[in-house]
Amino acid sequence: MTILERPRDGLPETCTHVLETGRLILRAPRLEDAKTVATLADDRRIAENTLRIPHPYGLGDAEDWIASTNLDSRDETFLIARRDGTVMGACGLEWRNGHSPEIGYWLGARYWGQGFATEAVRALVDHAFADHGYNALQAGARTSNPASRRVLEKCGFQWTSVVLHRIRAIRSSAPVDCLRLERAIWSSLKDWGRTSTRVRYVA
Ligand SMILES: CC(C)(COP(=O)(O)OP(=O)(O)OC[C@H]1O[C@@H](n2cnc3c(N)ncnc32)[C@H](O)[C@@H]1OP(=O)(O)O)[C@@H](O)C(=O)NCCC(=O)NCCS
Repeated sequence: MTILERPRDGLPETCTHVLETGRLILRAPRLEDAKTVATLADDRRIAENTLRIPHPYGLGDAEDWIASTNLDSRDETFLIARRDGTVMGACGLEWRNGHSPEIGYWLGARYWGQGFATEAVRALVDHAFADHGYNALQAGARTSNPASRRVLEKCGFQWTSVVLHRIRAIRSSAPVDCLRLERAIWSSLKDWGRTSTRVRYVA
């Protein structure tokens, strides 16, 4: 993953990072992305598995969301795009409490099941620890959302608790698995990936 500096068009420049992975580019949203974002996010399955995305989700919702992103210098929002520029979803880091930032993400349904969320979250995790030096990250997945929990587990997150969270799209609260990734665990996993084990058979 490399990080490049890139200005944003017509929006505050508090978020200028671009994260690159093998298949993806994570970059700040721009107002011209609103139509694509609205088309992808107008899906009950996305709304019901995220805290604040409304359903139905229209162009105005996308424009409002884009205009509101990256205003707090500590929060970062990225669009998840393929390297050919095709926008597929969004992810970000948000400080909802004073202790550690929380990771959130969603992808348009046509892009599910191809490992894109895992690749994007890994990039975000690397960025959070390597570039920001955070000590821990948090994330949540509804207990009815095993795919999201699996993404987090594949990125090294460990379950800590279940709490009730208000979900805007269902106008109600629902149980959410809370997961956490400590910097030390991430660091160990990265080192582990660089070492190899040789097995020798002895008579
Ligand atoms: C959750 C979401 C981001 C996953 O995106 P994705 O690109 O399909 O995820 P990945 O392909 O990287 O990984 C999905 C994993 O979940 C697994 N999975 C999918 N459906 C599953 C199910 N019903 N039960 C258990 N595991 C499941 C997949 O097999 C895969 O694991 P594997 O690689 O070990 O096989 C996507 O479904 C989404 O945007 N959902 C709506 C919004 C949302 O839930 N956001 C997260 C908020 S916490």
